[in-house]
Amino acid sequence: MNSKLWGGRFGKATDPLLERFSRSISYDAILAGADIRAGIAHAEGLERLGHLNAQERDLIVKTLSKIGEDIDSGKLDPGASEHEDIHTLVLNELALRAGEVAKKLHAGRSRNDLVSLDTRLYLREALCGILAELATLQASLVVKAGEYEDVIIPGLTHTQHAQVVLFPHHLLAYVEMLERDRGRVSDALARMDVLPAGSAAMGGSSLRLDQRFLARRLEFREVSRNSMDAVGDRDFVIETLSALAVVGMHLSRLAEELVWWSSSEIGFAELDEAYTTGSSFLPQKRNPDSAELIRGKTGRLYGNLVAVLTMMKGLPLTYNRDMQEDKEPLFDSLFTVADSLSLMAGIVLTLKVDRAAAADALVNDFSSSSDLAEFLVTQKVPFAEAHAAVGRLVRWCLEEEKSFPKLTLEELRQFHPDFEKAALKLLTPAGSLQAKKTLGSSNPRRVRTELERWCRRLSD
Ligand code: ARG
Repeated sequence: MNSKLWGGRFGKATDPLLERFSRSISYDAILAGADIRAGIAHAEGLERLGHLNAQERDLIVKTLSKIGEDIDSGKLDPGASEHEDIHTLVLNELALRAGEVAKKLHAGRSRNDLVSLDTRLYLREALCGILAELATLQASLVVKAGEYEDVIIPGLTHTQHAQVVLFPHHLLAYVEMLERDRGRVSDALARMDVLPAGSAAMGGSSLRLDQRFLARRLEFREVSRNSMDAVGDRDFVIETLSALAVVGMHLSRLAEELVWWSSSEIGFAELDEAYTTGSSFLPQKRNPDSAELIRGKTGRLYGNLVAVLTMMKGLPLTYNRDMQEDKEPLFDSLFTVADSLSLMAGIVLTLKVDRAAAADALVNDFSSSSDLAEFLVTQKVPFAEAHAAVGRLVRWCLEEEKSFPKLTLEELRQFHPDFEKAALKLLTPAGSLQAKKTLGSSNPRRVRTELERWCRRLSD
């Protein structure tokens, strides 16, 4: 059966191409659970205003629940049906199973407020899932950071060695990014916490619907104060897509680090076999496809955001059918980010770090140059003078093939007379780290404090 919710005014059949073109059920079927929940609350609301009696309400509630169960169990497959959208399917299925009473359910509402309500209900759950996935990835990073707490790696700027850092310091940088991602997702959740029901098509309903009851029943913080905004706005979708695009950007950077760290050239990390794949031609290969795909998926996350921003641009108030186009990008981003986060958590948790390769990367490294210059600053040498002296020292080391840890105090003093014995400690990677004093630096004591703080926070 495929009966429209709006046939009455029409004397002619819809063009079959438009019928197919406008059908959204293949992807909005995912809103079934939300639509049924909204329908049940609405039936209760209609009873309160006297439009349904208690038996009618019970029949509707029971039948809607059963439809929900049948969809969950696969007995009823909305995606395979020919209905225009999920809202149509649910109402038609209700009519089929409960009879005449079904005709009463759509009183006081429109698909315009319903689709906004369903999307918010669905999104609320999906985003709670994303928040949990973000926390799981943070926890994996913290576990891995603790496992290799003492490993020192080159820290880069411009992909060139800059200052040495602890491997956990590097991982904890991503934990911080993911924490802000959680903040953005929570913000989006807080702002979408508004009930659109009662807005009807756009200007409200003349029925005395108890919207505060509906808000409580469906766990919304407040009722929309403007029916036109409630049905015509999609910034809750855009804000979600934007937060997810930023998550994707962060994941792609971490993915890139993993590809780079596990490359033949760098080689200080190894992805578990479970997260790599082989080549159809090169028998020796084991490629980091998991990380590459996560990196690659970022493109669609940006695309989805731009698609919805562009679709909404210039739309006059209120609802326009264009807005149906928000769904595929939204669902795609939610699935993509959920999968990418879980996959990344697995990759990180099973990652092996090659301590010897990490140590090798620090041979002939001049990453403690800034510490040497700052040593001179503590001796009251102006920073620019200290910088120039250490610059000349590095140049000399390169010409003479000398490495920092082998330098003597006499050699240092050739470049500046204010060097003291204590400066020699700075020449090793470990000494460079110990010398760091600022908050947020890679000093091992500070990193330990941060690790402990994250452990506590994430186990709350
Ligand atoms: N499937 C539509 C959507 O997702 C539901 C709203 C339809 N409203 C309408 N007036 N045609 O946006």
